[in-house]
Amino acid sequence: MRVLMCPPLYYAINWEDPAKNPWMKMNKQPDRGKAIAQWGKLWHLYEFLGAKIRTLETVPCLGDQIFTANIAWSMPIWSEEGNENRRTFIMANLAPELRRPEIIIAARWFAENRFSTYFLPEEMLFEGQGDIITTKEAYLYCYGVRNSLEAIEEIRKVFNLKKPIIPLRLIDPRFYHGDVCIRYSKRRDAVLFYPGAFDAESVKAIEKLKAKKKDVSREFMVQELFDGRNFPLNGSYINNVETFPWNDEIEEFPRNLKGWIERDGGEVVTLNFSQFGLSGAGHRCVTLFLD
Ligand code: ARG
Repeated sequence: MRVLMCPPLYYAINWEDPAKNPWMKMNKQPDRGKAIAQWGKLWHLYEFLGAKIRTLETVPCLGDQIFTANIAWSMPIWSEEGNENRRTFIMANLAPELRRPEIIIAARWFAENRFSTYFLPEEMLFEGQGDIITTKEAYLYCYGVRNSLEAIEEIRKVFNLKKPIIPLRLIDPRFYHGDVCIRYSKRRDAVLFYPGAFDAESVKAIEKLKAKKKDVSREFMVQELFDGRNFPLNGSYINNVETFPWNDEIEEFPRNLKGWIERDGGEVVTLNFSQFGLSGAGHRCVTLFLD
């Protein structure tokens, strides 16, 4: 597995907009030293688990550049003969204006690393991997806060997608991206989700998925800490390891959820990501999967 990350050397909260991300407060800045240490632990965990990590050039002033999950979403484009051609990245049209220059740096990186890129029409907002969850049976496309619904058709065409794309409408800006309120383990074919983030029809669509499902409204959603917060649903999957932003020095990870995951052979690894929670983010937000 290859992932693209960006070291948090210039990580900061440089904008506020409650309609796009109500967690971010410019008067509550992350502690950069702590942020680098927390990010470094995730980096080491990925390395230890055998992931190949590539890093983006970091640029001062781009406080959100570390959230590489938002810059693009990729799939291989298949040639006529059915051989994988080239992995192509659909580049984001980010909603926050201050984040837009991130795309230029990322697009250059993709080109230098021989990946193809595709640009959507400017008026279609699209925030990359942050709003798409790929399951065995479908692509779950979350929209309504930062993403336009219209981008779906374009994405389907570009990649000639065979599985259905299920639109899930986010109704509460606290859950501004799909990946803070729903997560999926391919290995266990299992979904964890927070129904309060979606409209009724979308909750029904999630409930209809063949995958195993667990509603986490009772267990947890946001772990508030003295120096930040954690978004436990925003984690990564590598081999059988499932990461959860969580500080277990403060609170034990919910036992029934841990048991539910372990029963199917998953392993829960918690890593405190409180400094990134100040920006509304977790492990998955800082990780763009390259394959
Ligand atoms: N502060 C960033 C923003 O609001 C956080 C992005 C988190 N990314 C994600 N995939 N949820 O743009």
